[in-house]
Amino acid sequence: MGSLSGAIIICRIYGLPDPRAQGSQNPGATNVLRLGGPFHAVQVLLVDVLKGTIPVYGSYFLGIEPVWLGIIAIAACLGHIYPIFFNFKGGKGVATAFGAVAPISPTFALMLIVTWIVTFAICRYSSLAAIITSLLAPIYSHFLDDRFTIPMAMLSTLIIVRHRANITRLMRGQEGKFKRGN
Ligand code: G3P
Repeated sequence: MGSLSGAIIICRIYGLPDPRAQGSQNPGATNVLRLGGPFHAVQVLLVDVLKGTIPVYGSYFLGIEPVWLGIIAIAACLGHIYPIFFNFKGGKGVATAFGAVAPISPTFALMLIVTWIVTFAICRYSSLAAIITSLLAPIYSHFLDDRFTIPMAMLSTLIIVRHRANITRLMRGQEGKFKRGN
């Protein structure tokens, strides 16, 4: 499921440019927002979030232990990042990781969303908002439900490592602030 890239599929359906070749060249909702606008980006977000939520939540109802739920979440994100259907060139895993961990609790999901929105509202960098949220997520998890702290920390590490090009650009002052069409 992780390998079903929402950005590539939605862009193909609507005849938008390949998100791997345009904008930030990242097949994710942020880049589709740049290339197509909110109508398309919301659909990408929905696909990418659900492909994290469905396998993890489904497994939870089957009574699978938290450590395995963490592994399933990581597998969904790895599929998104290295999709088997799209030459292993995928996105950064933010939406899929969110979808996978949001069912832990509505409070946890809300804290992640608020952290992302506040950071983005202040800095206008989607990448920095994702990085800060990823850094704080294991701390939130520790206080809300410590069973998920280690898998959350692993997911956060994966996401942050995946943002290394963004981090380099941010440090050099070369990361583009979000605006449509860049
Ligand atoms: O979720 C991806 C985001 O953090 C960065 O996307 O397209 O600005 O590299 P982009």
